[in-house]
Amino acid sequence: MFKFITTGLDRAKIANLAIPVCEDADIHTEPAIRELIKKAKALPEFSAEKGQQVVLYNLTEGKIRRCYFDGVGSLKKLTAESLRTFAGRAVKESISAKQKEIDLVAPLDPVMEIAAKETVTAMIEGALLANESDLRYKEKPKPTLLKKMALRLPAQTAKSCRPLIARAEAVCDGVLKAREWVNTPSNDKVPETLGAAFRNMAQAAGLKVNVLHEAQLKRQKFGALLAVSAGSSHPPCLVEMIHAPTKAKKTIILVGKGVTFDTGGINLKPSAGLHTMKCDMAGAAAVAGTMAAVAKINPKYRIIGITPIVENMPSGSATRPGDIVTSYTGKTVEVGNTDAEGRLILIDAMAYAIKKYKPDVMIDLATLTGACVVALGEKIAGVFSRDDELARAIVTSGENTAEICWRLPMPEEYRDLLKSDMADINNNSSSRYGGAITAAIFLSEFVNDHRWAHIDIAGPAFVKKGPDYCGPGATGFGVRLLCDLVESL
Ligand code: BES
Ligand code: MN
Ligand code: ZN
Repeated sequence: MFKFITTGLDRAKIANLAIPVCEDADIHTEPAIRELIKKAKALPEFSAEKGQQVVLYNLTEGKIRRCYFDGVGSLKKLTAESLRTFAGRAVKESISAKQKEIDLVAPLDPVMEIAAKETVTAMIEGALLANESDLRYKEKPKPTLLKKMALRLPAQTAKSCRPLIARAEAVCDGVLKAREWVNTPSNDKVPETLGAAFRNMAQAAGLKVNVLHEAQLKRQKFGALLAVSAGSSHPPCLVEMIHAPTKAKKTIILVGKGVTFDTGGINLKPSAGLHTMKCDMAGAAAVAGTMAAVAKINPKYRIIGITPIVENMPSGSATRPGDIVTSYTGKTVEVGNTDAEGRLILIDAMAYAIKKYKPDVMIDLATLTGACVVALGEKIAGVFSRDDELARAIVTSGENTAEICWRLPMPEEYRDLLKSDMADINNNSSSRYGGAITAAIFLSEFVNDHRWAHIDIAGPAFVKKGPDYCGPGATGFGVRLLCDLVESL
């Protein structure tokens, strides 16, 4: 689908060219490109400021039929993410202009402080992630996507960057899968159907896969998980997706919260924003999307994705506030609030994963708390770990992929906020403050001394307006992050 073109501009006929243009520097080396930019910058309406775009037709004696110039601002502020969004904008613009193909020009002049590999990866990702449109639920026919996309770059760079295409395609395919699962409305995504979607993906990808259904979850005493699904007429399940290369030295476990809809349960949520709670399985979607990519990237570690999947509903059979349940580990939990359900399914899934697979590292992703969104906003995920090196590795992967993660503390003193008079622990903090932290501390009580980190993606998983390579709604946040991370651990 995506390819490199290494021939010079003068050599070819081009249907649709897209050039990122810097305001105050020449970021392209090829003289023919510089000439085109000169033409665009001669127009009064285009100075390549951020947000400016102009389209010119029939350039260089008609060889270039259409040319899109996109201002990316000043050189000093140019990042890989600005190139990812450039590629996204260019592709979206071309789709609405009914184009069939696009040639993106990679800015690789030495004035650029971004490494060539980063530039190339970012541009491929931006283009692939923008070339989609979710019209599953529309009656009228689809706007057609681009059939061909290419990056124009010099031959030597193309040679060293060649393997990046397949990798970016694998990762972006995982991101798009995650977005599609998250955007699926909850009437078409009850636990058994989402579990089946993950199983089908895993089978097609060549992963080992195992689904625990309700009867097995009961037999194996997933008491906290079952307490969450008790109010739903749709039974829960837990999916294990396994990448196990021979001679793997390390086992990495990825756990994702899969609440197909979170009403809050008997502690019913207010109406405002309730419809967005179809996104409460975004952690599970990110883990499954990552596993789809992992199957193709083939990292040398054993990587296991585990997704507990439930629906949190109020009904006559629902768990009540104040109920006490016995979790997988045997520890009892007072359900102080039925809306703090994510942590209940995660503790059972994580305890099970630890017992069964003895991981070297475990990472969970979850749309866990509104408090994390209050703290860090819609673009940044919260990272919690008592392991400094692991927390740093996650923050670094966030910087590499522009899926920004910020570490928050897990002070021992806050443990007291989870005391229960009757049970071993309460799932609800006695303080209204620091909710993202107390949620992480609750989880930590069930992973003992295992090397573990928790990533709260309640903010960035589902947004009103995404970056230019993402529509509104699901972002697929976590897939690019985890793909980078699992290769760095
Ligand atoms: N799924 C929500 C968290 C959430 C909020 C996700 C906003 C995405 C966007 C979670 O289950 C929840 O309800 N958390 C409660 C916890 C509280 C009851 C302790 C919250 O954040 O209010
Ligand atoms: Mn909830
Ligand atoms: Zn939830």
